[in-house]
Amino acid sequence: MSSNGQPRVTSELEPIGVIGAGWVGLVTAVCFAELGHEVHCRDIVREKVDALARGEVPIHEPQLPDLLERNRERLHVTADLAPVLERAELLFCCVDTPPTYSGDADLSRVEQVVDEIGESGDHALVMKSTVPVGTGRAIARRRESLGYVANPEFLKEGTAVADFMHPDRLVVGAGDEAASFADRVAALYEPLGAPIVRTDVESAEMIKLASNAFLATKISFINEIANVSEELGADVAEVARGMGLDERIGPQFLRAGIGYGGSCFPKDVSSLKQLAGNSGYHFQLLTAVIEVNELQKRRTIGKLKKHLGSLVGHDVALLGVAFKPHTDDVREATSLVLAARLMGEGANVRVFDPVAGERAAELLPGAEVCRSAIEALDGAAGAVLVTEWPEFRELDWAGEVRERMATPLVVDGRNFLDREALADAGFAYEGVGRRRAAVRTPSPA
Ligand code: UDX
Repeated sequence: MSSNGQPRVTSELEPIGVIGAGWVGLVTAVCFAELGHEVHCRDIVREKVDALARGEVPIHEPQLPDLLERNRERLHVTADLAPVLERAELLFCCVDTPPTYSGDADLSRVEQVVDEIGESGDHALVMKSTVPVGTGRAIARRRESLGYVANPEFLKEGTAVADFMHPDRLVVGAGDEAASFADRVAALYEPLGAPIVRTDVESAEMIKLASNAFLATKISFINEIANVSEELGADVAEVARGMGLDERIGPQFLRAGIGYGGSCFPKDVSSLKQLAGNSGYHFQLLTAVIEVNELQKRRTIGKLKKHLGSLVGHDVALLGVAFKPHTDDVREATSLVLAARLMGEGANVRVFDPVAGERAAELLPGAEVCRSAIEALDGAAGAVLVTEWPEFRELDWAGEVRERMATPLVVDGRNFLDREALADAGFAYEGVGRRRAAVRTPSPA
């Protein structure tokens, strides 16, 4: 690293190929360009290629537009693979591996990339996409001359650029036959100054799945502690603080809430469970992690019903649709399950999200998508805070919101709002695993 903390940029840097300009691919491409590399990026969707060529970022990810603008001359985006193969030897595979109905990962897009590249002694496929353990070995068997390096990503949506530039660790896995390609991949990351774990392909693949499964386990664990705390009078925020200070446990991923979502955790946990099952091992713990997460989403309905009785005919406002703040990603978002369940209970669902509203309209045809939080809250018998967007904390809860809502009832699915201020303003407040003392009985507005 240079003295100002920024990665050092040197000349004669290895050109990089990136296949797939989705969220992982785009962040990878733009960040390697920022590190000074010429980056040749291919995506099969023509509109995406055209948008990127105009300097437009098709996803919502902080810092990415600025970084793209700054590095446009080093980032070459194309719909054809040929120019990428011609100009780069390290090909970062960043295509989707969505879950199938069985919970296994769908590898068809990865297979397509492997087929398109064909046999080549000059190139290495560097796998960033999350794939089942054993994928690398199978590809290497099929394409003997093509190098294969496993290099899983650990980026979080919303902080992906910072995560790329300041990683906790990097994982580079390869067999002996691809060791020199692995050296070159490891060298790319040296300017970032993070530990590089060099290992075999299978272990690298497992590190990715096991890391996400462990974090999901931590979330389901604290969610169950929250549920028990509700019964026993403890406060999960205090419990998490007290637990997290133990260095062996650590404070991260101990925020209780209405369950994890997103493009990675649900998919990777079921992929690992399925992978174990296919090999004859029943992964009991992960089965529970998944079930706890599903039940957690539904507990919110019970909290509304506790105050309102039947939900039939009531307007319920969902604040937030994205699976977490600072992204427009709604994949496996808790909001989708919640909205569907609420509609099933006969409620009129009104949703608002600062950036994911359009996606909500596509995915929730029965819900009313509003243009502001206040519009969603107007006349609502209850509000559910689903995504912790900072602007929801800034709402005038004691004034305008209190006046507009039919019943002052808030279910805070992320323990995000100021519960004392809400209680003082006459709201019934239901958090997740918070001490009951702050809750008051609602009175009609
Ligand atoms: C995750 C991993 O963190 C990342 O390393 C991997 O590469 C991709 O998957 P991401 O899906 O972007 O990243 O989101 P993350 O911030 O990890 O949150 C995942 C979900 O867990 C969200 O729904 C979030 O609301 C929930 N969560 C997270 C909790 O409920 N409690 C917590 O304490 C932390």
